Amino acid sequence: MYVCVCNAITERHIGQAVDEGMCSLRELREQLGVGAECGRCARHARECMHAALGGGSSLAPAAAAVGLCAAVPAMEAA
Ligand code: FES
Repeated sequence: MYVCVCNAITERHIGQAVDEGMCSLRELREQLGVGAECGRCARHARECMHAALGGGSSLAPAAAAVGLCAAVPAMEAA
């Protein structure tokens, strides 16, 4: 299912990005363009990213272990 229509980004693309180590909306925007146009996808993209981070991503536990993902909510709230 498309998450970001402006950039034709699907849930699968976001899952792959998480598997490659991305764990913030900022990284998704910089690498995939998610939210960079109209911005309507940001909330759903964040939900998909969090689901992928907690839903069996192979790198998410390692990233969380070194604190890479722990700061995401605080950074995104700013
Ligand atoms: S739907 Fe993602 S930037 Fe417009």
